Amino acid sequence: MKKDLKNLDIVVLGASGNLAQTKIFPALFALFSQGLLPEKVKFYGFARSQLSQTEFKEQIMPNLTCRYTPDHSCGDFVEKFLERSYYCNGKYDSIDGLNSLASHLTKDANRIFYMALPPEIFPMLTKSIAMAGLLGSDADKWVRVVIEKPFGRDRASSDELNSELLKEFSEKQIYRIDHYLGKEMVQNIMVLRFANQIFKPLWNSKYIKCVEIDWQENIGVEGRGGYFDNYGIIRDVVQNHLLQLVTLVAMDEPESLDADVIRDRKLAVLHDIEIVNIEDLILGQYTNYTDDPMVPDKSLTPTFVNVKLKIDNAEWRDVPFVIRAGKGLNAKKNEIRILFRKPEGNIFCQLDNCPPANELIIRIQPDEGIHFNIVSKVPGLKMQFQEKDLDLSYKSAFGDAIIPEAYESLLLDVINGEKALFIRNDELEAAWDIFTPVLRYIEENKIKPENYVFGSKGFDRICKKE
Ligand code: BG6
Repeated sequence: MKKDLKNLDIVVLGASGNLAQTKIFPALFALFSQGLLPEKVKFYGFARSQLSQTEFKEQIMPNLTCRYTPDHSCGDFVEKFLERSYYCNGKYDSIDGLNSLASHLTKDANRIFYMALPPEIFPMLTKSIAMAGLLGSDADKWVRVVIEKPFGRDRASSDELNSELLKEFSEKQIYRIDHYLGKEMVQNIMVLRFANQIFKPLWNSKYIKCVEIDWQENIGVEGRGGYFDNYGIIRDVVQNHLLQLVTLVAMDEPESLDADVIRDRKLAVLHDIEIVNIEDLILGQYTNYTDDPMVPDKSLTPTFVNVKLKIDNAEWRDVPFVIRAGKGLNAKKNEIRILFRKPEGNIFCQLDNCPPANELIIRIQPDEGIHFNIVSKVPGLKMQFQEKDLDLSYKSAFGDAIIPEAYESLLLDVINGEKALFIRNDELEAAWDIFTPVLRYIEENKIKPENYVFGSKGFDRICKKE
């Protein structure tokens, strides 16, 4: 961590909402309790709710857990964190509340505005923040803004949102957060690919047959029906989190770890992904989805999707990248399966005993780890094979090491001005270009998703072993 950090004010807008309470403040606390924040850091909550300082602190306190500090010192850290926290209420479309916030902010401190709010509010809020004079940055101090997905509903609305934001902030100041990029195993994809020589020559269509990104949740929309029904599973997790995983698997090795070089490589993949065809999609909706009070009775919003992406470049042509994502399924899990081709003309096939193809599984969550199915001789006098799992489970490999929450890692990057794990404007545009036409087609033609039973497996996977 850089040592030249001066005073820092972190303002969480939408401070009484679920995201702020369950993710942002706990992540800030985790960094604070490890001594990773500047000594004079202060935390500000801003929202519409009328809350006293005590009520605000009582709201955030239950989620502040001491994962990094011994139990006996936990209370002290919580107390110190709360002493530096201040709440201010006000409207997002007026400067009254923000003026009052301004009077409490530290003069000449670096500032982060974290918008833990729906994107529709960003443009008016940014204007109000600017009018309240909170954006002044100069050579000695910076102002950064963190925004949460969904960044629009399609290419046009995303462009509009961006142009509004760019009226007040420069691209350099904007941190578009995709919390999947902060997950430990997602950060490990580049390490796996580029720190291990053995994968480099095999990482292309000659050896890989299919890549599947499997994302499942065993819960439904759980109180977020209003939001979810407006967006659907493609906009909720596919166009962002899971597409980012595709870019990390398919990108060329960058020449350096520079944020822009990495994002250029990812962007190149996005540009090579063909626009999604309706024939390459299976849409599903779990039974009883429309029982949610916020979901219209006749909703056609998909809660499940199986989509095949085609990457039109020399490395990946003919290798389907299949994203399978669903809520209300029978497991909570996210993994990337890399299915290798069956070795052609393998000598063991002469014995009518062809070995199965290898498979590499990157388990993002839960039980982070890497598994490689390797073909082995079964001990004994006969020549028989079996696939066995070379298992790098994080729990057994790294013992008690604490796996940081994605938001901890990303917030620290915002403070340090590291942008590699944030979405650049052109990446966002390219991601929308892949999905906008098919989303429009689905909505204009009122395509009905197939029903699947809540808690079931959903629809079949496409990456099949040969
Ligand atoms: C969010 C989606 O971005 O990611 C949610 O809006 C989803 O629908 C969540 O549940 C999953 O995040 P995680 O970190 O629990 O896998």
